[in-house]
Amino acid sequence: VSPSVTGLPVVGMVGGGQLARMTHEAAGPLGLTLAVLVARPDDAAALVTPAVTVGAPDDPDAVARFAAGCDVLTFDHEHVPQHVLEGLRGPVRPGRSPLRLVQDKLLMRATLTEHGFPVPAWRRADSPQDVAEFAAGHGWPVVVKTPVGGYDGRGVWEVAGPAELPPAGWPLLVEERVGIERELAAVVARRPAGEVAAWPVVETVQQAGICVEVVAPAPGLCPSVADAAAAVARRIAEQFGVEGVLAVELFQAGDRLLVNELAMRPHNSAHWTIEGAVTSQFQQHLRAVLDWPLGDPSPTAPCTVMANVLGTPATRLADALPAVLGADPGARVHVYGKSPRPGRKLGHVTVCGPEVAETRARARRAARMLAGDGA
Ligand SMILES: Nc1ncnc2c1ncn2[C@@H]1O[C@H](COP(=O)(O)OP(=O)(O)O)[C@@H](O)[C@H]1O
Ligand SMILES: [Mg+2]
Repeated sequence: VSPSVTGLPVVGMVGGGQLARMTHEAAGPLGLTLAVLVARPDDAAALVTPAVTVGAPDDPDAVARFAAGCDVLTFDHEHVPQHVLEGLRGPVRPGRSPLRLVQDKLLMRATLTEHGFPVPAWRRADSPQDVAEFAAGHGWPVVVKTPVGGYDGRGVWEVAGPAELPPAGWPLLVEERVGIERELAAVVARRPAGEVAAWPVVETVQQAGICVEVVAPAPGLCPSVADAAAAVARRIAEQFGVEGVLAVELFQAGDRLLVNELAMRPHNSAHWTIEGAVTSQFQQHLRAVLDWPLGDPSPTAPCTVMANVLGTPATRLADALPAVLGADPGARVHVYGKSPRPGRKLGHVTVCGPEVAETRARARRAARMLAGDGA
């Protein structure tokens, strides 16, 4: 990576997915260079930024060489092993110890529990016997999760009885199956100097464990619950010294508000901020990891809806894209440049509007047209 001619810092991001790609898009207006360390030269971010290094995120030499050309190092995923991070000299944001929490769901649950944050009932299971014991106390079904490496519902199973355990290794995280009314996300950014900025709490809609839709702000959310959710996110950011964007996924169930999981990077639940907030999560992440003043997180519209485009066997982006642009000129389309595969996140659509129903319908319609699922 060559230093920028402006003298402005070079931010290095490990990972080349859509999060890195959209962070690159946000770096432009500030004159910043986003360098990316990508696993493959055709990764989504590598297709748009000139500052590309190809290397594995778990290769200590590759990461160290990449980091040496950057003023600060940050991430678009959780998969850089601690031993790789330990050898690095420059600033790493978020730091090694907060990152550890998002690399292991068992450690995340244990640490949140220890600090008094509300989480679903859980235990570590080292055998089918442990799962059965937990279920005897909390009832079947239970939810079991692989502690490391899961995403988009991969590594999460609802288990109805002892005969149905997934063919995964041990240990597993086993949890009560929460009677979720809806899922929320509270997303904040924190810079090393301590400043924290919070976007409005949003509702996230999951299908088969994958986020399909986000509505900002969460419709009809009672202000006390919104405040509680935002306060939890702020406390987590401060307690663990998060630097950068922190997304806190929450379950609302009756009068319980439970922390599901954390992400310390830009997150799908805040893609809506590109069009729907004064400062997007991608620009905010850059500001935060540089320890620069944070931007205003206020929403710019009464309602913003983001709908993910998930690949289907019928996805034909080249045909669908112009059709969508023609059908709804106000829809903001983001295509990530990834090869279509069923269930894969290929892009998203954002619509800002005066009220939820129509805005949601427009975002859904455009996303479905792009996915080619006919609806
Ligand atoms: N304990 C639980 N009870 C009920 N549903 C759950 C539970 N844990 C996870 N889920 C559902 O599965 C989805 C994915 O789980 P999560 O732990 O967030 O894994 P991932 O890392 O794949 O996002 C959640 O968004 C939620 O819809
Ligand atoms: Mg999740």
